[in-house]
Amino acid sequence: MSDRATIELDGVTFDAPVIVGSEGERALDIRRLRLDTGLVTYDPGYGNTGSAQSAITFIDGEAGVLRYRGYPIEELTDASFLGVSYLLIHGELPTSEELERFRRNITLHTLLREDMRPFFDAFPTDAHPMAILASATNALSTFYQDHYDPSDPDDVEISIYRLMAKLPTVAAWSYKRSIGQPYIYPSNELGYAENFLSMMFAVPAEPYVCDQDVADALELLLILHADHEQNCSTSTVRMVGSSHLNLFGSISAGITALWGPRHGGANQDVVQTLMQIHESDDDVKAFVARAKDPKDPFRLPGFGHRVYKNYDPRARIIKEIADRVVGKLVGADPLFEVAQRLEEVALNDDFFVERKLYPNVDFYSGLIYRSMGIPLPMFPVLFALGRLPGWIAQWKEMTEDPHTRINRPRQVYVGAGYRTFVPTDER
Ligand code: SDX
Repeated sequence: MSDRATIELDGVTFDAPVIVGSEGERALDIRRLRLDTGLVTYDPGYGNTGSAQSAITFIDGEAGVLRYRGYPIEELTDASFLGVSYLLIHGELPTSEELERFRRNITLHTLLREDMRPFFDAFPTDAHPMAILASATNALSTFYQDHYDPSDPDDVEISIYRLMAKLPTVAAWSYKRSIGQPYIYPSNELGYAENFLSMMFAVPAEPYVCDQDVADALELLLILHADHEQNCSTSTVRMVGSSHLNLFGSISAGITALWGPRHGGANQDVVQTLMQIHESDDDVKAFVARAKDPKDPFRLPGFGHRVYKNYDPRARIIKEIADRVVGKLVGADPLFEVAQRLEEVALNDDFFVERKLYPNVDFYSGLIYRSMGIPLPMFPVLFALGRLPGWIAQWKEMTEDPHTRINRPRQVYVGAGYRTFVPTDER
């Protein structure tokens, strides 16, 4: 195979070295293109553009393969979320001592500063919890201004513990704010998922007993959402972090990007759409027809993916979790039946088949959260809690790379040519 590609234009020749990844993916190295030729490439949406060399997550979209640091996602389903978080952030599965130390360091930082409580009361009770989570994550940095230097490894380490520890508390308190219940403090003897469920659903008036099946399902859902290479929100974390901003502000930007309905906000959209279908006497075909209609902006939420042109391996596992948990918690869920019918109709429709549109990570996850009693606006928040270690790992990989430069894409200008200013009274 060639180790370089030659581009010839108007007598100018540019030799682009070929970079080969550890899984055989090949990329044209165009870092000198503009310097040598004056040309830029044009790739809106970056579908053909590699923004980084990364050792964290590998996806083969055609084959439906997802690996964290080389481990297939299917083999990590029995791990703990903090163990997978450690793997993503540090590159290796932790020993039992390393995991215990990581868990302990996180556990010791789960409390929010008491002077942060009024922060939650300042929001309207119907505030979207992703707005609160993104704002609170940035606001957390104001308490640690002496310890968030991105170039100081000790500051980065303590920031990682603080974010991993405090975001579940922020998420649960935003829910308590919305229902007017007292905030529940974290409890150090509970596991990561149990602690979040306790802060979400416990009340001071009586002891809270966590359903272990629910905690186990939530732990697995967090693992399945933990990283996904250079998706929209991770690229946002890298973009913002490349300005040499601290980890809190970079993660806050990622949360905001994830909120969008084309990205992590889709899990909320899926259940809202399933409700609409159910209210229309389960007229699945009508909604599939709308999704195919080029004049209708409606797209089937939870379907399609920029990279996967096969079944999203996470969706396959999440569907199995839904099969197991939804039935136990709420019995026969009509929305789960609608979802399976919708999947069947879409997967047998030429429009979806030709475009290789399959269920993605968001298609079934919301049904599980809903069966746990988690309200729809909190679904993207659960996605963010899962994706947090991936964002941290990607930010850390970028920050530690000595070749990292500030991300600053170019453009193709198509606006007005030179013209002189006209004073207002002459226009
Ligand atoms: C996530 O990148 C990641 O890794 C993301 C993620 C992660 O873990 O970080 O996997 C998480 O964000 C999953 C995606 C969640 N979003 C949704 O489920 C929203 C619905 N899906 C679509 O909006 C869409 O599929 C995207 C945004 C996910 C992908 O968009 P692309 O890659 O830009 O695809 P496209 O818009 O170019 O679509 C190609 C064609 C178009 O039709 P034509 O122009 O060829 O006629 O497929 C159509 C689209 O109209 N299409 C859909 C569709 N998705 C694509 N048509 C109907 N319903 C859909 N869901």
